Amino acid sequence: MRILLTGGAGYIGSHVALDLCSTGHEVIIVDNLSNSSRTAIERVEEITGKTIDFHQLDCRDTVGLRHVFHQRAPEGVIHLAGLKSVGESVAQPLTYYDTNINAALSVIEVMDEFDVRKLIFSSSATVYGDPEFLPLTEQARTGVGISNPYGWTKFFIEQILMDLAASNNLWEISLLRYFNPVGAHESGLIGEDPTGIPNNLMPFVAQVAAGRHDQIKVFGDDYDTPDGTGVRDYIHVMDLGAAHRAALEHLRPGVDIYNVGTGTPVSVLEIISGFEQACGRALPYTIKERRAGDLASTYCCPDKAESELNWKAHRTIAEACQDSWRWQSMNPDGYGTPQGN
Ligand code: NAD
Ligand code: UFG
Repeated sequence: MRILLTGGAGYIGSHVALDLCSTGHEVIIVDNLSNSSRTAIERVEEITGKTIDFHQLDCRDTVGLRHVFHQRAPEGVIHLAGLKSVGESVAQPLTYYDTNINAALSVIEVMDEFDVRKLIFSSSATVYGDPEFLPLTEQARTGVGISNPYGWTKFFIEQILMDLAASNNLWEISLLRYFNPVGAHESGLIGEDPTGIPNNLMPFVAQVAAGRHDQIKVFGDDYDTPDGTGVRDYIHVMDLGAAHRAALEHLRPGVDIYNVGTGTPVSVLEIISGFEQACGRALPYTIKERRAGDLASTYCCPDKAESELNWKAHRTIAEACQDSWRWQSMNPDGYGTPQGN
């Protein structure tokens, strides 16, 4: 298929693009590069030997999007573009509501005009808010205990897409609720390149291993979890890429919702230990206060994706740590540094 990938220059988008290009799909990327670099796309082209048609465009630019649809006639869309920092969304709620919700509205408006109604949307485990039960199945309630505007944008966009599909049965939509994406492509050529100090655990640990920070801060060791530290469901970004392709190939009329995770709970200390194995040395850490808004534990039941999409995560935490370390050590300053320096 010819797929329009919004946000395709970003961390997850570049890995989805790589997966699609290497499995015979044609990729068109729309990205405004607000949190990414064109180099990521060039690296995907280098790895796959395929050409990607790239348009530097804000998804809210409906006129510009129409032009891309007119010129390139995509058959389906994977919509990843958006802002994703939880803390920033608390400080700048209007920026988040404007960017995330208006970008989604603009994309579906243009899709509808061009009779393109196959859509995959990157949602998040954050829509579950405070989990009712664990592991989380897709039937768990959503929208209770969401603690930040970023999470609400995902919840609202899910609702908009369900309303849209209810209004016209030609829409084929898949909502992918990602758990915690980590790792990088095994080449070390593409990976996560956070701006500023990373908020998320794995990129911060990687930067400590690279000597950019003195020590890891573990946010709380008094949770009701096996070792007292926070527990998450870390999914390798290459497995996540494959999940998009599986969802694309199984689209059908209406809305389908899938958890995209491994189902395996992993603690902060286990991530640190996995990274120590990968980089070959001990990583200093200190225990700090709990981070405001954090959950003790969240992980999913991924069975629905396995039974309906024939997809499951294969890569281990050890592989994610090795791949993340390879990316970090080959690109100490992310895409700002020539590869191999
Ligand atoms: P990212 O910031 O690396 O990628 C997002 C991309 O979208 C960037 O390339 C950015 O330049 C682009 N973008 C932002 N606003 C845009 C706009 N208005 N128009 C065009 N392009 C725009 O983030 P990511 O981690 O790759 O996340 C991709 C998607 O997955 C996001 O929607 C995010 O909310 C979602 N998600 C991410 C995580 C995670 O932990 N990384 C978890 C759950 C869901
Ligand atoms: N943590 C630390 N130290 C750090 C960073 C994180 O101890 O420096 C801990 C957190 O307290 C938590 C775990 O590591 O227990 C994971 O934290 P992350 O910030 O990596 O991930 P979150 O689960 O908080 O959130 C991420 C994304 C959200 C997304 C959510 C679910 O940031 O956008 O996963 O998909 F919604």
